Amino acid sequence: EPAAEAVVAVRAGALVDTAAGRVLNDQTILIEGERVRAVGPSGTVGIPPGAQIIDLGRATVLPGLIEAHAHLTSDPFRAGYQGLGVSAIRDALYGAKAARDTLEAGFTTVRNVGAGAYGDVALRDAINDGDIPGPRLLVSGPALGIKGGHCDNNLLAPDFNYTAEGVADGPWAARAKVREVVKYGADLIKLCATGGVLSKNTDPGVQQYTFEEMQAIVEEAHKLGRKVAAHAHGTEGIKQAIRAGVDSIEHASLIDAEGMRLARQKGTALVMDIYVDEFILAEGERAGILPESLEKERKVGQLQRDNFRRALAAGDRIVFGTDAGVYPHGTNAKQFAYMIQYGMTPMQAIQAATVNAAELLGWQDKVGSITPGKYADLIAVETDPLKDVSALTRVSFVMKGGRVVKSAAPSAPVG
Ligand code: ARG
Repeated sequence: EPAAEAVVAVRAGALVDTAAGRVLNDQTILIEGERVRAVGPSGTVGIPPGAQIIDLGRATVLPGLIEAHAHLTSDPFRAGYQGLGVSAIRDALYGAKAARDTLEAGFTTVRNVGAGAYGDVALRDAINDGDIPGPRLLVSGPALGIKGGHCDNNLLAPDFNYTAEGVADGPWAARAKVREVVKYGADLIKLCATGGVLSKNTDPGVQQYTFEEMQAIVEEAHKLGRKVAAHAHGTEGIKQAIRAGVDSIEHASLIDAEGMRLARQKGTALVMDIYVDEFILAEGERAGILPESLEKERKVGQLQRDNFRRALAAGDRIVFGTDAGVYPHGTNAKQFAYMIQYGMTPMQAIQAATVNAAELLGWQDKVGSITPGKYADLIAVETDPLKDVSALTRVSFVMKGGRVVKSAAPSAPVG
């Protein structure tokens, strides 16, 4: 006979129902083991004897937040040449700290889109094995890209003969690379469709992978049950990636009206990191970001924010993702304020980081709302996030899979 699973009842003054887009008052969430068993108005949900009661008072409870674009193994203060002396093992250990900081900030699920030496796979497995605290992770392993492109590393002279692990040129080599990263544990595929801001000698506006290469990657990835996230800033690269069938466009900075329409037609999500510009321009130089990258950021940053507003108005599906790792881990929720400044309601921004993100990850049955059968991943904030989303930068309570990770208030067992 297996021991009965622990039962916990969480009382919430208010609960954000992300699936329906409404707020409910005085709710009780009944949790059995790692899953939600029931949720409803307090008084209507039967609490079995011996259950632990966690009374969160007047706090607002939300499902754990989802970050769809992070690099947990990247230290923002070791950018550019400063990162060249850091081993992959050191990066992975740094990732353990970043994972804890991100979880304690209320992000109970993270999609990691690019890491060297499968440090992200190791991190995911260490978290799942219970060795270290961290969010649920979906990881890509090394990002696929062309030689010399954004997903290569172009800092060293040819004498050092270095090429990043994810580089694969030509449709068949790219297909083989998908098979390789899946072999070593990737949950999804990341590819670079255009140049980028933080890479040496690439242009964000210029397409890198060809349509044929992207089509091969998408076909192989989907066949193997993996989604594809495409880094793309440039107008044409965005459209070609969408036509090739990628599941999300990352950054989407220079997307035009046709790209927005294509994204709606194909159901492609846009993951637009509209906070990070702030950090890059304020701290980038000190962090080691190359002068040419700072120059590129000054060109795309504001255009990306303006296009966020347009894509939102056009009805595109926007998912919360921030590029944490370029800026400090655990401060991800700073982006919510920008999403409201550029047109979202607080509820839309919360949905972008919960239900809509869960759908992009293919985890709509596991996370994204407080629903019977899903994981008991909950957070609480002391002030109303629908009045002021900055509340989400001050998370007071975090539960992952029924276990309290962070708590300001003491909880009382009842006999
Ligand atoms: N990793 C991205 C790149 O190097 C960062 C872009 C940041 N800038 C922005 N405005 N979102 O291209």
